[in-house]
Amino acid sequence: MAALREAVEEVDVGVLVNNAGVVKPGAMFLHEADVEAWVRMIRVNDLALTKVTAAVLPGMVERRRGAVVNIGSASSEAMPSFPLCTMYGATKRYVAKFSRSLHVEYASKGIHVQCQAPFFVATRMVAGLDEDMRLSPFTVSPDAYARAAVGWIGHGGALCSPSVRHRLLWCLTAAVPESVLDWFVLRSHLAISKLPKRIEAWE
Ligand SMILES: NC(=O)c1ccc[n+]([C@@H]2O[C@H](COP(=O)([O-])OP(=O)(O)OC[C@H]3O[C@@H](n4cnc5c(N)ncnc54)[C@H](OP(=O)(O)O)[C@@H]3O)[C@@H](O)[C@H]2O)c1
Repeated sequence: MAALREAVEEVDVGVLVNNAGVVKPGAMFLHEADVEAWVRMIRVNDLALTKVTAAVLPGMVERRRGAVVNIGSASSEAMPSFPLCTMYGATKRYVAKFSRSLHVEYASKGIHVQCQAPFFVATRMVAGLDEDMRLSPFTVSPDAYARAAVGWIGHGGALCSPSVRHRLLWCLTAAVPESVLDWFVLRSHLAISKLPKRIEAWE
């Protein structure tokens, strides 16, 4: 923390985007992965984001302005469960709760904290998904997603999903019974977990 605080001390950080994240080791039963893999995931998805935010906030508080954008995931906010990617969904739930609470905590200090929760974006992270998912009309390109995401910084509530396609999918999932979503995600992730080639791509 000391090194981080020192590094940002002289910099006027206006906008912090905590984007780094990992899904590795991908879809598998919790007991099948080395526990170190889950620790690594928590370190990148939650601990790093917390530390960097804590390091940048003092300067923003002093200047009474700033925006913090934390990239969460619809997997934890729009879906009732995320079986076989349990740890990923759980780490992203942390991101959402962390952001929503900071949004309230820092609003009076002129700092806008937000969690952006996308569904699928066709990045390296989802290279292991099957064709149907990658080519789905609800999967957006990184460029399109980034354009939409930038437009939401400093606007809207504590939790948002910048892509119109993702918001549409969010509405559709809200209309589906939770048991059906549970079944669908489990089935999809089981299929991914059984294909060695795809697991490699996720890694
Ligand atoms: N793609 C999706 O469908 C999707 C959906 C929901 C949420 N998200 C979230 O969106 C964010 C961006 O993911 P992406 O889709 O762009 O995935 P990506 O293509 O795999 O990119 C992940 C990014 O995280 C960085 N990163 C990973 N581990 C790191 C570490 N230990 N230290 C520093 N940087 C590290 C990577 O840096 P390097 O390039 O240097 O490895 C890369 O820039 C993540 O938080 C992800 O969870 C993605």
